[in-house]
Amino acid sequence: MARVIRIHDYGNPSVLQVETSDAGEPGPGQILLRQDAVGVNAVDTMMRRGEFGNPLPAVLGVEGAGVVEAVGPGVEGYSAGDRVGYFFSVGAYATERVISAESLIPLPADIETDQAAAFLAKGLTAWMGIRALHRLQPGEVILVQGASGGVGSILSRWARELGATVIGVTGSKEKLTQVQAGAHHALHAAHPEVLEAVRGVAADGVDVVYDLVGQATAELSGRAVRDGGEIVAIGAASGPPRDYGRLSSRRGIRLVRGSTPQYVNPSTDQHITAELFAAVRKGVFRDLKIAHYEFEEVRRAHEDLERRKLSGLPVLRTSSQS
Ligand SMILES: NC(=O)c1ccc[n+]([C@@H]2O[C@H](COP(=O)([O-])OP(=O)(O)OC[C@H]3O[C@@H](n4cnc5c(N)ncnc54)[C@H](OP(=O)(O)O)[C@@H]3O)[C@@H](O)[C@H]2O)c1
Repeated sequence: MARVIRIHDYGNPSVLQVETSDAGEPGPGQILLRQDAVGVNAVDTMMRRGEFGNPLPAVLGVEGAGVVEAVGPGVEGYSAGDRVGYFFSVGAYATERVISAESLIPLPADIETDQAAAFLAKGLTAWMGIRALHRLQPGEVILVQGASGGVGSILSRWARELGATVIGVTGSKEKLTQVQAGAHHALHAAHPEVLEAVRGVAADGVDVVYDLVGQATAELSGRAVRDGGEIVAIGAASGPPRDYGRLSSRRGIRLVRGSTPQYVNPSTDQHITAELFAAVRKGVFRDLKIAHYEFEEVRRAHEDLERRKLSGLPVLRTSSQS
């Protein structure tokens, strides 16, 4: 029997229940996957709280990696024993699951299973920011709101590697050192002179703000971006922002939004994940740690994420992992 983490009600982390369940047999186009590592993402906590109104009961999670156990009729290109990952398929909090073969990404030999579960969803979201929503150019000055978080820490490092000047902003003062490790400049969002510090780097304002925080930092985002610049609004870790609209009409600021599956999907994901894995292989993210939790510790992982106390990219480890 597989173990799954299921909710029967929306609410705080106490609604997360570890249960047993039969994963079932793979049908046409499907694969039975043994999951060794399961990624934890902010969206999981939103689903748990009921923000998407997903039907109950529900197995949460959208990202995982492991080994193909069995292949359903009509599946080509995969066989038992292959290592694979995926980044957006609901039902990931499970030690085994049946999943559409279309959702899977083969893992190269030098990408660890837990690296895949840690980096796919967050790294591909960062890719969307720097390659699709705004095609980042060397020499551009960017400000990353939420540079201490999962997506922001990857995006900052990748943008720096591509030749942008990166100002990373953290919500927690104690994470300044870790933001500094991935950016040219590190600032604390609540510091009274944060805007002056941005202007010290880019006198007219930054070319692009990447916003992963939303409400709490929207005003700073608007004031930090230059006239005619861009706000790339990817996330809203502090709640939805209120006043981007006014800004864009008054000062010619372009507001861009997007959701990762719009840009990274089965028709595009092979070359995009290859780009992400190349950056991992090159060591662009070498200082980023994975925060491992045992599968049964899922409540603690959610609490740490929501309290902004994560010590790395969060991954649930199932006991099958070596
Ligand atoms: N558009 C998409 O398709 C897509 C895909 C993936 C994620 N997202 C969204 O992107 C956001 C970030 O995801 P993530 O995985 O990076 O989350 P995360 O690891 O939890 O990071 C959240 C970040 O937000 C900062 N933050 C939170 N509240 C803040 C506040 N009041 N003031 C200043 N900073 C604050 C945190 O700063 P400190 O930790 O320094 O306090 C941290 O840097 C989430 O809203 C997520 O849902 C969107």
